[in-house]
Amino acid sequence: MNPASLIPAVTPIPVHWAIIDVLLVLTFTVHILLMNAVFGGGVIALVNSVGAGEPVARSLSRKLPTVLALTINFGVAPLLFLQTNYGVFDYAGSVLMGGWWLAVIPLLLPAYYGLYVYDFRYSDMRGGRPAILTLALAFMFFIAFMFSNNMTIMLRPEVWLEYFTNNHGIVLNLGDPALYPRFLHFMTGALAVGGMFVALLGRWHKQEHYVKTGLRWVVRATVFNILLGLWFLMSLPREIMLQFMGGSPWATLSLAVSICGAGAILHFGIKGALIPSTLASVFTVLFMAVTRHFVRMFYLSPYFSVSDVPSTGQYSPMLMFIASLCVVLALAAWMIKLYVKAEGRS
Ligand code: HEM
Repeated sequence: MNPASLIPAVTPIPVHWAIIDVLLVLTFTVHILLMNAVFGGGVIALVNSVGAGEPVARSLSRKLPTVLALTINFGVAPLLFLQTNYGVFDYAGSVLMGGWWLAVIPLLLPAYYGLYVYDFRYSDMRGGRPAILTLALAFMFFIAFMFSNNMTIMLRPEVWLEYFTNNHGIVLNLGDPALYPRFLHFMTGALAVGGMFVALLGRWHKQEHYVKTGLRWVVRATVFNILLGLWFLMSLPREIMLQFMGGSPWATLSLAVSICGAGAILHFGIKGALIPSTLASVFTVLFMAVTRHFVRMFYLSPYFSVSDVPSTGQYSPMLMFIASLCVVLALAAWMIKLYVKAEGRS
């Protein structure tokens, strides 16, 4: 059977596809930065559970539940934009792995609850602290792996044929050699950005040893992640890999800029320059997200081009959305201001 015959028909969207693609990449960047702060920050808290680094763990415990809540909220936005432009692929993939996909919710809730227990019961739960944090991190690790499966199964309609021998909603993309380096690349990036989060927290609380601890994580995880990134590139199907080696000038440029960004993180991180290395991290994650978007387009190119998605030219809902977004952003900024003020009093 030709896998292309399994792809549902594309329906028109209200606005030009490029607007949705830009919003998808931007909101995904925010989602992944927050996920990195909560997962990477959690791992750093765990490693510092005992000994001289323990105050770092205490300080992180107060922040992790809020950052997880923000991660989830900023997960919804790319989900909606993804469904708008790539829904026919994303929905099909989600249905194939439906059991695993739905398992994300009952695992996310205890992870969230675990982080609250870790914070609120921090002082009276000495021995149990590492255990509860490990459990919350294990659930987050599993959720991230499910997302990597979901984001890659949608790219390979040839894998969808498995439905005809296994229709229990438990198909994963485990036979894809690119899945493992891709996932590990994400999770190691989380340790680097988590380190940046710890360093920023240290600067905020005027605790310079946090800054040192955080930057050490940034540098070590980034060095390791360059190797994982190379593995990821080599594991891509040959014709896609070649696109990043000059085949497509824009994709090659995007990858080259991201690699330069990683170099800048290392340069500033080693020098102990916190703000420049933070800016370099945000810049690198943004360009890696653009590069990842190219990977998606190349995978789908035999079946689909997003530029073929028709638009009905109805821009008023989009304008309403932008107006509401501005109001919500202003309210969020105000709430964060109140939150920071309240923290100062505690
Ligand atoms: C602990 C919670 C979470 C973790 C650790 C996590 C982690 C990840 C990771 C690692 C990816 C990249 C996967 C890849 O491309 O291989 C990803 C993508 C994504 N996540 Fe999350 N996620 C979490 C929660 C959520 C939630 C609750 C939502 C939605 C409500 C969400 C929505 C998304 C979407 C839509 C993408 C793909 C966006 C795109 O393709 O551009 N995430 N997540």
